[in-house]
Amino acid sequence: MLLSIKNTSVHFGKVSAIEDISIDVEEGTIVALIGANGAGKSTILRAISGLEHPTTGEIWFEGERIDHCSPEEITIKGIAHVPEGRRVFPYMTVMENLEMGAFARSDKAAIARDLKSVFEHFPRLYERQKQAAGTMSGGEQQMLVMGRALMSGPKVILMDEPSLGLSPILCQEIAKIIKEIHAQGRTVVLVEQNARLALSLAQRGYVLETGSVVLEGEAKALLHNDKVRETYLGG
Ligand SMILES: Nc1ncnc2c1ncn2[C@@H]1O[C@H](COP(=O)(O)OP(=O)(O)O)[C@@H](O)[C@H]1O
Ligand SMILES: [Mg+2]
Repeated sequence: MLLSIKNTSVHFGKVSAIEDISIDVEEGTIVALIGANGAGKSTILRAISGLEHPTTGEIWFEGERIDHCSPEEITIKGIAHVPEGRRVFPYMTVMENLEMGAFARSDKAAIARDLKSVFEHFPRLYERQKQAAGTMSGGEQQMLVMGRALMSGPKVILMDEPSLGLSPILCQEIAKIIKEIHAQGRTVVLVEQNARLALSLAQRGYVLETGSVVLEGEAKALLHNDKVRETYLGG
């Protein structure tokens, strides 16, 4: 298994945000984490990327335990996090934002190759590379934070609610780009409240409720599961 979360809990004071969560992510797959607001989805991504440290449990990546590592160490190991809320550096240009994504790398040729690939995924970023990031639309800012994450040259990319607040057309555009990123051989952990979108892209899915996994399985099977349909797909 490329990435494993084993019996992991995260507490904020006495409150548990996630409780005894186990999730396996196989190399080259898209894994969807779905669930309502407050279910613990972002906390799981934050724990993987070293922004929260589990109170119990272990997180393993490529045969190595990573739950005591810093966020910088985890980025360098090959896990990139696209946090919720599209936080760009607003006064920097698009190009400068992308360069920030490669902060931990020194291989200029590989960085140039990845920049070219980001511009292929996101032609709009190429057109707007000199524009201040804060003046771009919500959809363009989402593209920029995804592009910035790709600039770290990750094996795994964690995406937190990339479709939130975007128009249906832009959601489809983001979905297409996630497919392309996956087709290039990257592993994706996709957090979404838009369960239909996430499960239609993923191979496997996990359903979270109040900090626990209540259902897991093949994404296609989850799309046809009665409970999932009723609760998350509007019947
Ligand atoms: N920094 C924090 N301090 C206290 N409670 C938090 C913090 N972050 C998240 N929580 C709580 O943990 C639970 C899970 O939150 P979160 O992982 O953000 O859920 P989701 O991403 O599924 O909406 C929620 O009850 C939330 O209020
Ligand atoms: Mg969240």
